[in-house]
Amino acid sequence: MSFGGVIAAVTGGGSGIGEACARALAAKGARIAVIDLNLADAERVAADIGGLAFTADISDAESIEACAEAVEAALGPVAVLIASAGIAQPALPPEMLKQRTWDKIIAVDLRGAWLTCVAFGGRMARRGKGSIVNIGSVAGSAGTPLHAYGPAKAGVLAMTTNLAVEWGRSGVRVNAVSPSHTLTPFVKDAIESGRRDLAELADNTALGRVITPEEVANAALFLASDDASAITGVNLPVDAGWLSVGGWHSYGGVRPARTVP
Ligand SMILES: NC(=O)c1ccc[n+]([C@@H]2O[C@H](COP(=O)([O-])OP(=O)(O)OC[C@H]3O[C@@H](n4cnc5c(N)ncnc54)[C@H](O)[C@@H]3O)[C@@H](O)[C@H]2O)c1
Repeated sequence: MSFGGVIAAVTGGGSGIGEACARALAAKGARIAVIDLNLADAERVAADIGGLAFTADISDAESIEACAEAVEAALGPVAVLIASAGIAQPALPPEMLKQRTWDKIIAVDLRGAWLTCVAFGGRMARRGKGSIVNIGSVAGSAGTPLHAYGPAKAGVLAMTTNLAVEWGRSGVRVNAVSPSHTLTPFVKDAIESGRRDLAELADNTALGRVITPEEVANAALFLASDDASAITGVNLPVDAGWLSVGGWHSYGGVRPARTVP
């Protein structure tokens, strides 16, 4: 899989999964626009990989549109977009979740993903070429106590299939990758500070472990690449089997490994 000569834009490229995608794309020859609300982080990653840093607030239509214009003016036509920028939410009951928190999550995780796709995908469609990978979440297709984040990510999946059809005949593929708990700085902090229990997170998967940002990037790069030239409108969970575990906890949980390490 090569991205030689390809110009790629990665939102949320300053941290976590977006950073891993930006680094992996650069390692395979792409020229990267690292886009993030946090310019210092975008600059740190861009400096490491020979890319260019841009700041944008994806929830603001003018901001992300101006960013897309600036990226293409500086680097040329973007052929690959990885839309990873997003925010997490506290797992509060609805009665305790502040409405402004719900609005903020929807504004960034759903509206922001939409505005990002429109800004970059609209340009790709006019040129007749492009590939978009939206970073969703398993919370978009399974029940969780994430009352804003879950609906936002479910919306991202619906949007992905709709845009795949909308732009398919204009040469643009649109897919999603849905990670489960991934060892990004945020999740690592939560584990180290005791707010999340690593063993509990791992126990809820078939493979018995959490996943790394690089494993998410591997799947995102596959879908973005020409190796996936006939694939559009799909959601690829990268979840160590989190979705498959489903009802196993109603039957005493996942059975332990047969092999003795
Ligand atoms: N880490 C996980 O366990 C996990 C699991 C499933 C899905 N995801 C999804 O993966 C994506 C990346 O998450 P991550 O874990 O790498 O988080 P992260 O916090 O490490 O990175 C997210 C980046 O997005 C940027 N960002 C936030 N709001 C923005 C805005 N309005 N405009 C532009 N940039 C903004 C942040 O500055 C940050 O650099 C998110 O969409 C998240 O929902 C993460």
